[in-house]
Amino acid sequence: MKILIKNGRVINPSEKLDKVMDVLVEDGKITKKAEKIEGIDDALEIDASGMWVTPGLIDMHVHFRDPGFTYKEDIESGSNAAARGGFTTVCAMPNTKPVTDSVDVVKYIVEKSKEIHKTNVLPVGSVTMGMEGKEVTDIFALKEAGICAISEDGKSVMNSSVYRKAMKKACEANLPVLAHCEDINLVDGGVMNMGDKSEELGMKGISNAVEDIIASRDILLAKETGARLHLCHCSTKDSVTMIKEAREDGIDVSGEVCPHHFSMCSDDITGDDGNFKMNPPLRSREDMEALIQGLKDDVFTVISTDHAPHSTEEKKNGFKSPFGIVGLETSVALTMTKLVKKGIITPMQMVEKMSFNPANRLGIDRGTLDQGAVADITIIDPDAEYEIHASDFVSKGTNMPFEGWKVNGKVKFTILDGEVVYHD
Ligand code: DOR
Ligand code: ZN
Ligand code: ZN
Repeated sequence: MKILIKNGRVINPSEKLDKVMDVLVEDGKITKKAEKIEGIDDALEIDASGMWVTPGLIDMHVHFRDPGFTYKEDIESGSNAAARGGFTTVCAMPNTKPVTDSVDVVKYIVEKSKEIHKTNVLPVGSVTMGMEGKEVTDIFALKEAGICAISEDGKSVMNSSVYRKAMKKACEANLPVLAHCEDINLVDGGVMNMGDKSEELGMKGISNAVEDIIASRDILLAKETGARLHLCHCSTKDSVTMIKEAREDGIDVSGEVCPHHFSMCSDDITGDDGNFKMNPPLRSREDMEALIQGLKDDVFTVISTDHAPHSTEEKKNGFKSPFGIVGLETSVALTMTKLVKKGIITPMQMVEKMSFNPANRLGIDRGTLDQGAVADITIIDPDAEYEIHASDFVSKGTNMPFEGWKVNGKVKFTILDGEVVYHD
């Protein structure tokens, strides 16, 4: 099977390459890049004029709900949503039922993902058995079975001693720790950012300290253990300073921002609508602006979605509904529209944050268009203008606050292991 991609703007961070050229894919690998490639007659030809050709996008943070909550999403629908969003690799968080704390669940996810072959689903193992915060999982056995990282996402491991033990093990296993930062005692039933909006709507607030206290603790534990720490869904202005200073201090910490946190703030909440409810919540305008600056300055090296599907039924109850919104099918457009088109980040930075840097952070052999690399490729029309409609989604989840938004940036082709798995 051969694919010849003609005349695309090839953006490859690993070579700092940004140039119009042709790309040849043969037997699942990138075999050639050149200004003109001709005389290949048995190839599927894709005209990528005016489009970007990037390494397959990587989302370090999704919830596929499989096993256990497949009415919200399953590996098949989630994989289809990933492919439609341009993602060739996703990290699936462990808050499934059963929790991804055993070799059996890890194997189930890996095998089902391979069978479906629409995106590469990498399971994330839980930090503790049953995500109960007590007993650390057998990280080495889980790694052997195929996990790419450990995380307790959905909550924090509140016992610092347990978390330190897990970080040490993760370090020995050479796996990153993906941290959800939330002091559960301090949340105290909060449902949205603590501030003007929570007061206006008469709802219980979640203060920045809920997140910042645990972020700072986790950074200190990483300093002590040497763990490769990645802070999930950073939403506060102080997270920017903390990550920046920790890195200057030589601590191995990175951070991600989700599109909803740089596209919206609590002022945009129109009322008691569950589509605005996620954890961490939409913060103040000041926080949002600090996050955007942090993305521009590369304090945040990763953009991930925290794709968190729930059923329409569950999301009907306004701020009483569960936390989470879907993001796989809007991430490219929101990043393009809110950051690239506004000149805040460059196209190269976008590809770094959505593919190259996640691959490096995970330590996987993807996120590059180098010759000989696995042919995971995303082709994006950066100018395509359209409206976001949940009715177009292939995810089972339709819960998100961007309905009707006019955006730029559309995924045209997603190629996984040298095979077209999505075509717009
Ligand atoms: O909004 C969220 N939804 N935040 C989380 O941390 C968990 C996630 C979920 O699993 O639904
Ligand atoms: Zn989380
Ligand atoms: Zn999450």
